[in-house]
Amino acid sequence: MRMVKVSEGTLMGNHHRGSDVELAHVLLYCALFFLVGFFGSKLFSNEDFGVGHGMRQERMMRGVDGVEEVELRSVPHGVTGESHLSLIPFQVLSWQPRTLYFPEFASAEECQTIIRIARSSLIPSTLALREGETVENTKGIRTSTGTFITASEDSTGVLDRLEKRIATVTMIPRDHGEAFNILRYEIGQRYASHYDAFHPEQYGPQKSNRVATFLLYLTDVEEGGETMFPFENGSNMDIGYDYEKCIGLRVRPKRGDGLLFYSMLVNGAIDLTSLHGSCPVIKGEKWVATKWLRDQKQD
Ligand SMILES: *[C@@H]1O[C@H](CO)[C@@H](O)[C@H](O)[C@H]1NC(C)=O
Repeated sequence: MRMVKVSEGTLMGNHHRGSDVELAHVLLYCALFFLVGFFGSKLFSNEDFGVGHGMRQERMMRGVDGVEEVELRSVPHGVTGESHLSLIPFQVLSWQPRTLYFPEFASAEECQTIIRIARSSLIPSTLALREGETVENTKGIRTSTGTFITASEDSTGVLDRLEKRIATVTMIPRDHGEAFNILRYEIGQRYASHYDAFHPEQYGPQKSNRVATFLLYLTDVEEGGETMFPFENGSNMDIGYDYEKCIGLRVRPKRGDGLLFYSMLVNGAIDLTSLHGSCPVIKGEKWVATKWLRDQKQD
C-alpha cells in the first residue's frame, strides 16, 4: 500500500520534464520501488521475533463490528508443545453437558477414506451390559453396525492425523483414547439414550472410565440421525423420559463436522446431563467415527 502512494507522488513531481527523461525516470523508479518492495517484504516475512520461531500469521477475523485484521504469532513453547498456532473454530452448544461443535474438523476426503477402510469389517454393534441385562432383552437399543480401528492399523494416516487433532482440542493425551469405533446407521437404525461413562453401581468397579466422547460425522444424513441430548441443562430429567424418544438438544450430522461432549464433570463425577443417543435415520445413511477418551492411559 505504502509503495503505491510514494510512487504516485514521485511521478507527479517529475511531470514538467521532457518525455524521454520522464520515461527513463519512471522506469527507473518503477524498478527501484519494485526491488525495494520485493526484497523488503522477503526480509519481513523471514524476520525472527526474538526467542520464538518468528512465525507470523496474518488472518482476517470477524470482530464485533465487521471485519478486522489481526496478527497472530506463536510464542516460545515447551519440549512437548507445538511451534504453531492452531486455528480450529468451535461453537459451545451447551454447558450442561459440556458440548462443543467443530465445523469442518475433517475434510470430505478424510471422511471418505475412513468409510472405505471400515466398510469391509462392519459387524453389529454391541452394548456393555448392566446387571440383569442380556443380549436378548437389550435388542433394539443399539442397532448400528460398526468396527474398531486403531490409528496404527490405518495405513492411510488419516486416523493418525485425526487422533492428533482430537488430542489438541480436548487436551486429553492420545494414549487415553480407545480405538476409533466407526459406525454405520442405516434407515431405522439408532442408539437409544445412554451414558458413555460407566456408573460403578450399575456396571461394577471400573479400571478407568470415559471422560469425553468425540464424534466425527462422516456423512450428511438426509433426514434423522441427529445426536440428541434429552437432559440438556437439566430439562426432561423428571418426566419419566422414554429413552427411545428424540427430544432435547439435537445435532444434525454434517460430513466433516465434529462434536465433543464430556460425560464427566470437572470433579470427576458422572454428568447426568450427558445422556445422549442417536435418533433413527429416516432418509439416507449415517456414518460416524467415535473416539472415547478415558481418565486413565489405555494399553
Ligand atoms: C437452565 O436451567 C436452570 C436450572 O433449571 C434454569 O434456571 C435456567 O433458566 C436454564 N437456562 C436456560 C437458558 O433455559
